[in-house]
Amino acid sequence: MSPPEDAPTDGTALSLDHVGVRFGGLVALDDVSLRVPPGRIVGVIGPNGAGKTTLFNVVCGFVPPTSGTLTLDGRPFRPRPHRLTRLGIARTLQGVGLFPGLSVLENVMAGATHTARAGFAAALFGLPRSDRDERRLRERAREVLAELGVDRHAHASPATLPYAVRKRVALARALIARPRLLLLDEPAGGLSAEDIDELARLITTLPTRTGAACSVMLVEHHMDLVMSVCDHIVVLDFGKVIAAGTPAQVRDDPRVTEAYLGAEVIAGETAGPAPGAPDAGPGADDGAPDASGGAPDADGAVRR
Ligand SMILES: Nc1ncnc2c1ncn2[C@@H]1O[C@H](COP(=O)(O)OP(=O)(O)OP(=O)(O)O)[C@@H](O)[C@H]1O
Ligand SMILES: [Mg+2]
Repeated sequence: MSPPEDAPTDGTALSLDHVGVRFGGLVALDDVSLRVPPGRIVGVIGPNGAGKTTLFNVVCGFVPPTSGTLTLDGRPFRPRPHRLTRLGIARTLQGVGLFPGLSVLENVMAGATHTARAGFAAALFGLPRSDRDERRLRERAREVLAELGVDRHAHASPATLPYAVRKRVALARALIARPRLLLLDEPAGGLSAEDIDELARLITTLPTRTGAACSVMLVEHHMDLVMSVCDHIVVLDFGKVIAAGTPAQVRDDPRVTEAYLGAEVIAGETAGPAPGAPDAGPGADDGAPDASGGAPDADGAVRR
């Protein structure tokens, strides 16, 4: 159930208990338990293939868990992709994932269609209420784009824009629905150091945004960003939680260093050059990572 459109929120609590996911013989998640308290930023880190995106896919209902349970605000939660926005959950994809045939503004509006009150018939016949809703949505999309500093690109086609701008548009599309839980999958991937600093500032404001505060789950390879913005970090390796705690606790945990060093050794043995940047279209990198092995990436990611 969604709160009234303008009601202030302070984020949603999410719990995963003993969640497992198998893809045939491959165990992608193994007995994973974690909690995202309201208004907190929880990081999920781990080498390539550790199961981070799969975890997001479970929360979004794209991948059904083979075992375990989820709870949202204390209630049992069986995620369905088409109900996420209504439940106050939004996500950005690993990569960008904008619709190439829509303008920037339309892409952002697409993130909030559930908030428009017009029914299907009204929209179909272009009745006044539908116009009003669309105008309101358009204004709101512009506001969010302005908040992220990219409103001047409102009428551009995403393909013509620099990668960093497209990443912001993707974030705007997630924020327009005023989520109470936001899942960010590698938001810093492919960004410059300056853009990452700005992203870090933005992420830390999310739990206290006026009228739209949210809890955040952040998957990210960029360690400086994770360490600087997260309240709590969960470390996955081969689908298992191998460590969890504050940034300082995780940084000092030998199991974490070992997991990353192990990944580097494997990468060194098997890899070609790191995969290059950024995707081109919707859904890119959305669930199944590419099969390329790799060395440390340009953004510091350790590729396995
Ligand atoms: N749809 C799928 N079908 C089969 N295997 C999958 C699928 N999605 C993911 N996997 C496998 O599950 C494991 C976890 O993948 P996942 O994408 O969750 O890793 P990740 O931690 O997000 O990695 P990265 O840092 O590279 O994005 C990998 O071995 C991957 O190949
Ligand atoms: Mg991933």
